[in-house]
Amino acid sequence: MTDLDANTVEADVILVAHGHSDHIGDTMAIAKRTGALVVTTVEIVGYLNSLGLANLHGMQPGSDHDFDFGRVKLTPAIHGSSIEIDGKPFTLGLATGILITADEQTFYHIGDTALYSDMKLIGEFNDIDLAFIPIGDNFTMGPEDAAKWLMAKKVVPIHYKTFPIIEQDPAQFTKLLADGVGYVPEIGETIEL
Ligand code: NI
Repeated sequence: MTDLDANTVEADVILVAHGHSDHIGDTMAIAKRTGALVVTTVEIVGYLNSLGLANLHGMQPGSDHDFDFGRVKLTPAIHGSSIEIDGKPFTLGLATGILITADEQTFYHIGDTALYSDMKLIGEFNDIDLAFIPIGDNFTMGPEDAAKWLMAKKVVPIHYKTFPIIEQDPAQFTKLLADGVGYVPEIGETIEL
């Protein structure tokens, strides 16, 4: 678990890949307190707007937009994007990955997804310095699929210890990668590009 606190964390921009509670998390509380811009799908923007947030930017998979901090592309992800509203589940558009290019560095948060072939193209068309890739299995790719199409100079495994059903050993995953590519940061560690 992170030691970040939604009541004190600072943010200029919040990027939300899809609506599941372990991703949208404390977006509402943090954005309200900090005034951070929230970038996500048009459907989630509509939902957050209905709750009173106004500093929002809606996009869809496959599109790019230039912001003052850099360029954002939402990529496809094969995954759900449901959210609980008043105790009932609603699907809010498509799940996404997020590709960010800023200061000549490119970061790819692949999002929660199955392995899919466009991932290979995204790696070929973009010089990706760092990628976050899910390895938890059951809800996303497992370690073997996650290791299949490497597209980044550095790869950080994510989405594997949130619940018992997605428990994985990240060292087993990084062993499947070329030497020096996999990296498992400590909780709370900052990665600089
Ligand atoms: Ni999810």
